[in-house]
Amino acid sequence: MRERPIGIFDSGLGGLTVAGEIMRAMPEESIVYLGDTARCPYGPRPQHDVREFVLQIGRWLAGREVKLIVIACNTATAAGLALAQRVFDVPVVGVVEPGARAAVKATVNRRVGVIGTVGTIDSGAYSMAVRALDAGVTVVSAATPRFVDVVENGLRLGEGSIEDWLADMGGVYIRPSIYEMARDYLDPLKRSDIDTLVLGCTHFPLLEAPIQQAVGTRVRLISSAEETAREVADTLEARGHRADAGMPRTELFTTTGDAAEFASLGGRILGRRMERVEHVGLPELESQFDRDLARALEAYEAEAACD
Ligand code: DGL
Repeated sequence: MRERPIGIFDSGLGGLTVAGEIMRAMPEESIVYLGDTARCPYGPRPQHDVREFVLQIGRWLAGREVKLIVIACNTATAAGLALAQRVFDVPVVGVVEPGARAAVKATVNRRVGVIGTVGTIDSGAYSMAVRALDAGVTVVSAATPRFVDVVENGLRLGEGSIEDWLADMGGVYIRPSIYEMARDYLDPLKRSDIDTLVLGCTHFPLLEAPIQQAVGTRVRLISSAEETAREVADTLEARGHRADAGMPRTELFTTTGDAAEFASLGGRILGRRMERVEHVGLPELESQFDRDLARALEAYEAEAACD
């Protein structure tokens, strides 16, 4: 078990912010990453569809004999974490609870902002997770869906390192610039006197500079990547499933989109070349969704409707 890879997935490139942190924290671990670029964004989709994607990808990762699955996407975590935990034999870790925990630890005035996709914000997953940790913390949320397009499309337009790309963003997005967009989205949050802002989408740490500028330096930005990596390490440790330093390590990145493009954009996020990037066709993922998974999804949604 210890030599098996950790499976990680997201709707696209954003989950690489989490994968990067996991690889930094546990350089001895093997990983398999899937970026579902062909179906990105997940944010505006109905929860039912996102849950089906979670089950397809989870089953596909299980077929790669992963020892743990990380849903490195807030939208998919909000829609499908509980269901995936029920269905798969290996532990499944999401990014919402770790982000909420980091925010509750960081806030002093106990006023926390959360930004994310429409799916994440409408699900109320962050408010519930924060309240479960500290019922006295006030959560103010806002959906900021265009930030996802900025990352997915902006990366295609820019060049060089992620830092250069960010510096260029004003030029790439002429009307409105990313800085204006951030200000429009974040002004109401800033006025609500938050001292902590959760970047509740794994794409958003790539926009840290304009987001920080819009909310001001007194607001602390929280990305769930570090806390998620810690949870993955603790979960593996508790089960005696951590890889040994001397074990041979493998790394496989896959995408439902174009593999060459994913390698070039993903390499800029990770700050290094991606050795192996393979394309996975949507029919391959869709074929994972068999009768058992369909039944599990139906039962889960019927129960959720009664709650
Ligand atoms: N990276 C995903 C998240 O954390 C969102 C991007 C999307 O809309 O697909 O929610």
